[in-house]
Amino acid sequence: MPEKIRKVGVLTSGGDSPGMNAAIRSVVRTCAYHNIECIGIYRGYQGMIEGDFKDMGPRSVNNIVNKGGTILKSARSLEFKTPEGRKKAHDNLVKAGIDALVVIGGDGTFTGGLVFNNEYDFPIMGIPGTIDNDIFGTSHTLGYDTALNTVVEVIDKIRDTASSHNRLFFVEVMGRDAGHIALNAGIGAGAEEILIPEEDLGLDRLLDSLKKSKASGKSSSIVVIAEGDKIGKNVFELKDYVEANLPEYDVRVSVLGHMQRGGSPSCFDRVLASRLGVKAVESLLEGNSNYMVGLQNDAVILTPLEQAIKGKSEIDRELLRVSDIMST
Ligand code: F6P
Repeated sequence: MPEKIRKVGVLTSGGDSPGMNAAIRSVVRTCAYHNIECIGIYRGYQGMIEGDFKDMGPRSVNNIVNKGGTILKSARSLEFKTPEGRKKAHDNLVKAGIDALVVIGGDGTFTGGLVFNNEYDFPIMGIPGTIDNDIFGTSHTLGYDTALNTVVEVIDKIRDTASSHNRLFFVEVMGRDAGHIALNAGIGAGAEEILIPEEDLGLDRLLDSLKKSKASGKSSSIVVIAEGDKIGKNVFELKDYVEANLPEYDVRVSVLGHMQRGGSPSCFDRVLASRLGVKAVESLLEGNSNYMVGLQNDAVILTPLEQAIKGKSEIDRELLRVSDIMST
């Protein structure tokens, strides 16, 4: 750990998410506020290996708070998984005079950072940036709120055509192995059923639920399915299965895909990004390392990086109950 932090490197890694640019802006400006330099590292750990660096003063992050994506780009780096790759990266950091790192990304990003820190005792702070909200130690990851609003807006549009044609739509959403997007956006969009990896509804119960919906007079339905759901069939096979067993339904599929990752961040994500960036830099200046900054009960707190990586972001059981009741 250096006696004094004089220059901080910042990078984004893993799947991009709305709010990453607001976090970069916050890190850069907090460094400037404390009269320390900030270096942008392009394309995550791969850019660190290649020495793809850029000085970033407070003006370099003008007009990005409202931009989706990441101006520092993102990439996945197989080379950083090797000791040789990490040594190249470390040599570049030393050559550039960088004393500490702020890494913005998901659990894969944090894992790489922790391995690097264990090898080189290099100060590191993590900012949770992913739409999946699947990181332990924070109620919200950067981009999650924006993704929820994007998904709800799209499902509202799908509902217009579903109700016009008396159709059943399966809408597949992102989230990797977690069901947070599906559960919350499903409730927000009034889905008749929500299928998530954490709760195996089962094919029989799904058919029963859809039969009851029809019998209760619902002429169209929306079923939101998380991409990681394990109901045993992919969303297109599920469509075929339901059509074969419920011939009264006219079924369609919409896979929302990467649109959920884009768009201008919501105000919530912009404010969260600004708070987390300040906390990350000031925690480094206070001599902390190997933590993730996160939100808990609206307070910004530190979670040991190892816990953030190993912990599980549980589904809210109360939300599951609300979802069941709303399907009545
Ligand atoms: O982790 C964010 C995420 O969007 C997941 O929800 C999704 O499964 C994955 O990234 C897609 O990865 P890629 O952009 O490499 O296809």
